[in-house]
Amino acid sequence: MIYFDNSATTPVWPEVLATFDQVTKQIWGNPSSLHKLGEPAWNLLEQSRRQIAQLLGVLPSEIIFTSGGSEGDNWVIKGTALAKRQFGKHIITSSVEHAAVRNAMAQLEELGFEVTYLPVDQTGRVKPADVQAALRSDTILVSIMAVNNEIGTIQPIKEIGEILQAYPRVHFMVDAVQALGKGLDDVVFSDRVDFATFSAHKFHALRGTGFVYAKQGRQLAPLINGGGQERGQRSGTENVAGFAAMARAIRLVKEKEAQSVKQEQAVRAAIFKHLQQFDHVHLFSDLTPQFASHVLCFAIEGVRGETVVHAFEDHDIYISTTSACSSKKQAEASTLAAMKVPTRLAESAVRISLGDQNTLADAVAFNQAFDQVYAGFQKIID
Ligand SMILES: Cc1ncc(COP(=O)(O)O)c(C=O)c1O
Repeated sequence: MIYFDNSATTPVWPEVLATFDQVTKQIWGNPSSLHKLGEPAWNLLEQSRRQIAQLLGVLPSEIIFTSGGSEGDNWVIKGTALAKRQFGKHIITSSVEHAAVRNAMAQLEELGFEVTYLPVDQTGRVKPADVQAALRSDTILVSIMAVNNEIGTIQPIKEIGEILQAYPRVHFMVDAVQALGKGLDDVVFSDRVDFATFSAHKFHALRGTGFVYAKQGRQLAPLINGGGQERGQRSGTENVAGFAAMARAIRLVKEKEAQSVKQEQAVRAAIFKHLQQFDHVHLFSDLTPQFASHVLCFAIEGVRGETVVHAFEDHDIYISTTSACSSKKQAEASTLAAMKVPTRLAESAVRISLGDQNTLADAVAFNQAFDQVYAGFQKIID
């Protein structure tokens, strides 16, 4: 089997599962309990927070545990809207964000907020000058993703941050769900970023765990009210085992990061160069530093994306249409639509997304399978 759908989710590492298992069995008390079963749970929770903060070069108090990317995105967006609604009701985002951002924005629009959706260029990138032009005296939030989940574009976060230096009251949020472990911490944690959202199942830890980086001094209204856990910012009895496992996964990711980025780049390049030779293959991602190491989006012209996905499945190779969330609904990929790719071509798009477990041998096997898949479609293509 070759698993090339790591942007949808990643396999849990055995060491990470071992941590989850051990903590679930041995440190299962409620961290808020005063008795001696609560204390080790509290200590482990805080140790996990300190470890993650240290690995990412931020403060422990800036890490708030959540259930994953969708929660983090919704919290920062709506939490900003609630906290700052007296100051303004204008939000800026891009037209290529994940549905978790897009649909949170749509809900705020129904409540009377005004959202500016910035266009992108042919590579899916936002122009920093467009952010500058969209800023208003009533802007409260700018939300731009770090790495696009459909085609892998890295957004100019630092440059946008530089523009926002002149607007200190505006919250700057970065959806970094596709960015952890991809050699991009200097982008994600660049000076002016106030909030960044992360999801553990994208880096070999468990579903239903994640965290938000929230810069010291920045305030959000909580969305989940209750017993006041996470310093009142996100209530609910903490998933100590899940967060300890996530901390372990981040440690492992960081140990391997430089090597795994290089390996992903090599695997991606081997496939890219092969696909480039075919007249009817259209490549949406490229090998420049403006694209993350792990995503490659392409189309076989005239063949629908889902047909291509299933053709590779017959070779025990798992890829996806452009994003896992929209793939079952057969929605046209929103990033490609924003890039003004014609609908027919966008409907043919598929995504390969790599993980550190993928090797050059996988690229060779994929390329061989590709030749057969392409030959099988020859009649449709010509
Ligand atoms: C860029 C981006 N943001 C947010 C999410 C949502 O994360 P989760 O699955 O943890 O809710 C995803 C998941 O694919 C993503 O790729």
